[in-house]
Amino acid sequence: MRRLQNVCLTVAVTALVVSYAAWSSLTATTTLGTSSSASRLPLGDLREHSTVCHASLQDQRTFLPSNNDSSLPTIFFITPTYPRREQFAELTRLGQTLMHVPSLHWIVADDNPECNPFLTEIFQKFGLPFTHISSPMPSNYRKRYFVPRGVSNRRAALKWIKANAASGVFYFGDDDNTFDLTLFSEIRDTKIVSMFPVGLIGEFGVSAPIIEGGKVVGFFDSWPADRKFPVDMAGFAVSVEYLLQHPNATMPYKAGHEEDQFLKSLDLKMSDIEPKANNCTKVLVWHTQTVKKPKHNLKVPESIFSNLRTLLEKLVSLGVVQMGAEVSGKEVYMVVDGHKNEVTKRQVLGLS
Ligand code: UGA
Ligand code: MN
Repeated sequence: MRRLQNVCLTVAVTALVVSYAAWSSLTATTTLGTSSSASRLPLGDLREHSTVCHASLQDQRTFLPSNNDSSLPTIFFITPTYPRREQFAELTRLGQTLMHVPSLHWIVADDNPECNPFLTEIFQKFGLPFTHISSPMPSNYRKRYFVPRGVSNRRAALKWIKANAASGVFYFGDDDNTFDLTLFSEIRDTKIVSMFPVGLIGEFGVSAPIIEGGKVVGFFDSWPADRKFPVDMAGFAVSVEYLLQHPNATMPYKAGHEEDQFLKSLDLKMSDIEPKANNCTKVLVWHTQTVKKPKHNLKVPESIFSNLRTLLEKLVSLGVVQMGAEVSGKEVYMVVDGHKNEVTKRQVLGLS
């Protein structure tokens, strides 16, 4: 009898331990400002882990916008990004748009377990105040049929705002979208949540609030999907104070429903929405998408012109091309007078 009791007890304790382990691995925990535990996470985990790689609060732009009034509310511009061939081109274009905007803090959260030093380097070059975060998507979400892109990034950025900001406005600006500078002056005075049209979305070519008497009465969007707020991620801005009044507000890992569920978690009412862009008659943000092409593998001889080696090495480090002398890759050549020549320096007569 006693033995049976012991067995039962052991089974019960084991079950408890196993369910605690399972529960704790399902519970999202975000650690900001540390990088120690990333390598200890088991594969297939749902746990979040984010690290602030670099934060710069100073505005170090050499050419400040003429209206750079320090009393303006700060816009926290949240950009999810991820390593791929086009990443640096996208961030260069976006960064050079943001350089024209007064009183802006750029939060760039990279879906990457590492802090990429080349990213910190380009953010420093723009001179804007910025926070560079490493916020990899938990690996289990990446296996889903519809991958919730940019969510771990935005959640980490929201966590940073909650810990570091008391006022201002935040906006989710993906790294591949196109922003009209007017957008920034429109959203800066957002009191609760402002909304405006986004061009190039879905089968209607635009996603926009519909306005009557200065109020939002519905939405023009080709994918209703049972959403109360059928809007694009780029179609709204939120006041930081309003976020702080809703500490439980969160963005779910649910592809296609992130916007709607985030806005619902903010307890937003239709009557609270502030229409912008001239009563939602203008497009100030475009949901552009960049054509993605596979990375080429270049077969590059050892002895090539030094500028070419420096250039290619830089592009390899930015993830744009791959190269090697042995690889079964694409043969490279130099064009002289319209003809292909070997790119090996000593073999080009008269040019070495
Ligand atoms: C649309 C929405 O505009 C996004 O806000 C939304 O996150 C996404 O759909 C979704 O629901 O999955 P779309 O242009 O289709 O965006 O997607 P991407 O541009 O590929 O990704 C959205 C953002 O997430 C980008 O800023 C991108 O850099 C980032 N991303 C993408 C990651 O951080 N990790 C990834 O693996 C893929
Ligand atoms: Mn996109």
